[in-house]
Amino acid sequence: MNEVLIELKNITKSYRITKNNLLKVLKGIDLNIYKSEIAAIVGKSGAGKSTLLHIIGTLDKPDTGTMFFDKKDIFSMMDKQIADFRSKDIGFIFQFHHLLPEFTALENVHIASRIAGNDDDKRAKELLIEVGLEDRMHHKPSELSGGEAQRVAIARALVNSPGIILADEPTGNLDTENADSIIELIFKLRDKFKQTFIIVTHNEEFAGKCDRIIKMSDGLIINE
Ligand SMILES: Nc1ncnc2c1ncn2[C@@H]1O[C@H](COP(=O)(O)OP(=O)(O)OP(=O)(O)O)[C@@H](O)[C@H]1O
Ligand SMILES: [Mg+2]
Repeated sequence: MNEVLIELKNITKSYRITKNNLLKVLKGIDLNIYKSEIAAIVGKSGAGKSTLLHIIGTLDKPDTGTMFFDKKDIFSMMDKQIADFRSKDIGFIFQFHHLLPEFTALENVHIASRIAGNDDDKRAKELLIEVGLEDRMHHKPSELSGGEAQRVAIARALVNSPGIILADEPTGNLDTENADSIIELIFKLRDKFKQTFIIVTHNEEFAGKCDRIIKMSDGLIINE
């Protein structure tokens, strides 16, 4: 493994449950993510995996700690700069596809490109072909199978060539066959685009195929 893309140092996060009660969810995370790797994050429910992914994706801020992304100190930036960074450099894939129901597959991917200021209809089409949906581009989410909708979500995550794609249980809502084909697709896209991925998963087979398994327990990384 080569160049560091993301460097997390001493990330902590607590949630206030009651006036006197603080729930410590992340207790000091140090982690490097390398360019073009597929890193799996595994661990029991409640370990803090999604919380960590949200912080890396700047959907949430840590209480303490720093994140350097391509040597930029992200949480020292102004909120507007952070939002701009997020739209350009972070791709998200969730357990449920979260596509906009009133728009077609192509429009869903294209809109993500427009939001980041790229407006690249050609790339949106190319990516839908790349994920195997050449003949489903003009279908709305309700006219797609679960596996197809997740492929659209993957094309959408890729459309701005983000520095990283963060996936939170991307196969969690799919049957084995569809899950396997999504896994295969993610590896194909990494090989083709040198795309970096962090994938939270409960799927042991998937985790086992990744370049690295990062195991979390009770707010800490317990092994790599
Ligand atoms: N906004 C919040 N307010 C209070 N507690 C929260 C909040 N978000 C998460 N938590 C708590 O933080 C802990 C870690 O949650 P997190 O979602 O990161 O777990 P996880 O490892 O992703 O679990 P799972 O595998 O079930 O998705 C949980 O105990 C959860 O209840
Ligand atoms: Mg989670």
